[in-house]
Amino acid sequence: MPPRSKPVAVVTGGNRGIGLEICRQLARKGCQVILTARDAAMGRVAARSLAATGLDVSARVLDVSDPASIRRFSRVFAKAPGRIDILVNNAGIYLDGGYDAAGNPGPPATETTLAACEETMRTNLFGPMLLMQAFVPLMVGQGHGRVVNVSSGSGQLATMGRGELSYRLSKTAMNALTRVFAAETKDKGVLVNAMCPGWVKTDMGGPHAKRSVAEGADTAVWLATLPAKGPTGGFFRDRQPIPW
Ligand SMILES: NC(=O)c1ccc[n+]([C@@H]2O[C@H](COP(=O)([O-])OP(=O)(O)OC[C@H]3O[C@@H](n4cnc5c(N)ncnc54)[C@H](OP(=O)(O)O)[C@@H]3O)[C@@H](O)[C@H]2O)c1
Repeated sequence: MPPRSKPVAVVTGGNRGIGLEICRQLARKGCQVILTARDAAMGRVAARSLAATGLDVSARVLDVSDPASIRRFSRVFAKAPGRIDILVNNAGIYLDGGYDAAGNPGPPATETTLAACEETMRTNLFGPMLLMQAFVPLMVGQGHGRVVNVSSGSGQLATMGRGELSYRLSKTAMNALTRVFAAETKDKGVLVNAMCPGWVKTDMGGPHAKRSVAEGADTAVWLATLPAKGPTGGFFRDRQPIPW
């Protein structure tokens, strides 16, 4: 069943970058947006900046790398608003060194530390996994839900290249996570998809990136608001399917 009142959307890493823009665009589309951030003050400031323009956005604390924080968030969320229509797993980290102006990634895989891999996996993979485990059953119970995993072309096996090992591993695994949850929710009203925002001008993307946050957020917002017959278990960029 589609939501009877305003759809409730939860966005992780909503305090800046692509996540903040996803919050803005979802709220403009009439959602009640719960902007989550690991830093309470930063989340509050970001949510207020959107609410000041008349949008329905409020802030909650959520550190996706911390299972206890996810448990706390889910517990409080179950009381109010208690319903979730959209989960956007946007929060992410990139610990592999930046890109140069030509778009080439930094140090080779031989230099990647286990610590960097573990930290990246905790944030980019296990956080989304635990959130999906917490919220997808609610969506199935409602008979309606949309999950958008903000992945990356860096996780595509079809075009896998050198470097950025921990980030690539985390995003390839996030794509697998997407496929598994999509298979398990098939025909239950829940659509689970992954997307790549492209190379976006944010703190992570850096100053050489080609895309604006508005362009980067567009496909995530489209997937978050898909109609009932929309795709599930897909990987998209610019609203078009791309190879895994
Ligand atoms: N920018 C690009 O070119 C690009 C390309 C492909 C994919 N992506 C993906 O797009 C998503 C957003 O990236 P972005 O460019 O907007 O990055 P960004 O500007 O660096 O923002 C990252 C966001 O994630 C949050 N975050 C990091 N760790 C967190 C944690 N443990 N708990 C909660 N929030 C956490 C950050 O919060 P703090 O402010 O507290 O650090 C921040 O809000 C990421 O998943 C990224 O992998 C980006």
